[in-house]
Amino acid sequence: RHDVLTTIVVFGASGDLAKKKTYPALFHLFQQGLLPKRTRIIGYARTQMEREKFVGRVTAFFKVAVDAPEVVRFLAICEYVCGQYDVAGDFQRLRSAIDDSELAMGKGGGPSEERVHIYYLALPPSVFVSVGEQIKHNVYDGTCTNRIVIEKPFGHDLDSSRELSRAIGALFAEDEIYRIDHYLGKEMVKNILALRFANVFYEVVWNRHFISNVQITFKEPFGTEGRGGYFDEFGIIRDVMQNHLLQVLSIVAMRQPESLRSEDIRDRKTEVLRRILPIQLEDTLLGQYVATRTGDKPGYKDDDTVPKDSTTATYAQCVLHVDNDRWRGVPWVMKAGKALDEAKMTIRIQFKDMPNALFPNLARNELVIQVSPKESVYIKTIVKEPGLSTNLAMSELDLSYHKRYQDIHIPDAYATLILDVLNGDHSNFVRSDELDEAWRIFTPLLHQIEKEKVVPLPYEYGSRGPKGVDEFASERAGYKLSAREYHWRPRPTS
Ligand code: BG6
Repeated sequence: RHDVLTTIVVFGASGDLAKKKTYPALFHLFQQGLLPKRTRIIGYARTQMEREKFVGRVTAFFKVAVDAPEVVRFLAICEYVCGQYDVAGDFQRLRSAIDDSELAMGKGGGPSEERVHIYYLALPPSVFVSVGEQIKHNVYDGTCTNRIVIEKPFGHDLDSSRELSRAIGALFAEDEIYRIDHYLGKEMVKNILALRFANVFYEVVWNRHFISNVQITFKEPFGTEGRGGYFDEFGIIRDVMQNHLLQVLSIVAMRQPESLRSEDIRDRKTEVLRRILPIQLEDTLLGQYVATRTGDKPGYKDDDTVPKDSTTATYAQCVLHVDNDRWRGVPWVMKAGKALDEAKMTIRIQFKDMPNALFPNLARNELVIQVSPKESVYIKTIVKEPGLSTNLAMSELDLSYHKRYQDIHIPDAYATLILDVLNGDHSNFVRSDELDEAWRIFTPLLHQIEKEKVVPLPYEYGSRGPKGVDEFASERAGYKLSAREYHWRPRPTS
């Protein structure tokens, strides 16, 4: 693979996603020696930029100085082409730039020479299709492998997503398309498969006989400041639940795949998604944040780009049901919110009470996978209180990555996903039928919320969410809180 002549075109090279994620990820792979030996990266965008400005933009989020030798070497493989997103002549110029750059890399033209073109669309969805068409008609090279990378939003409901899939599918084959859901590139999400299928003791209890409920929680301590206009069209359900949290749910709930081949994994995820019933409004709690009492943090609607009568939810909790023999009766709670009290993404699997317990039921075991901010897995476990006491106490078996793997750098999700694209591995990308199922599950709820203009409950910026957040999980999902004094704390490193 290291010999493949590789050209990566980053569309939207002057934008935020490219600056914050795509270029830093490409640079990281370059630093690690993971880009093929002969790789060139061509940025494409509408903004007219001199080299200096382009360099300033793409290196803005690098963690090393712009004149560090490795950055200089990286920039030597980067160039920039300015063009519109709907002008054929501009895309023909791009094609010439690709041809020239391949020649500069020593393209030999032999029949066995492997060449790859990767088109990374770091672009708003409004131009996906027009850029796709331009690529197909003016850039696409049928003599090499072509891969197109796109990122959500993939539509805003089932119909619009199908329409987008149809339009993109008319241009590119499914195996050329890589739909990014960056949660699939996160270390702890990728770890779920290993935990579940490489350890004898998880899989045996992974069902309704032992598991009481599952909670998948996403919390951010900041609001939508600066992107309120964008967010208002989508809301928290479309922004993180329909994609990131549902992807995580499907990996936690799926059956063991036949092999680790990408289609086998995606088949299993799709299979379980098909069994999820559409979410009901009565199984949903919606919130929208308001300014802090002191006024130091603004409310959602204080943003000038948000309509004053907006009913868009910035917080939601939903209960989902997987209607198959393994999971029937187990509630899956998804929680997501902006402007909350902390930054956290966790998967919390709560087991049932001990039957016929020799000891009183002190509290339930839980397996918690913390995806961020600090990667960890811990199992809340009851022990005898240490010392002369014969009481029981809640403790934990704890694997905190920052302690256990101190010398290992955990890469950003985008770096691992781009590496997968380079390797032609689709396992961590969303297939079109998965996407379709995801919209099927959420669309009726979203339409009902919009049609009935359901008003979200207010919650203060920086709080735990609207009134009733804790009761909701316990009443709807039977979640039992541990003793109040118990708190898991990530272990200090020394
Ligand atoms: C994005 C959402 O997809 O994911 C954002 O649009 C959210 O609203 C972000 O902040 C969270 O990603 P991460 O990697 O910071 O957890």
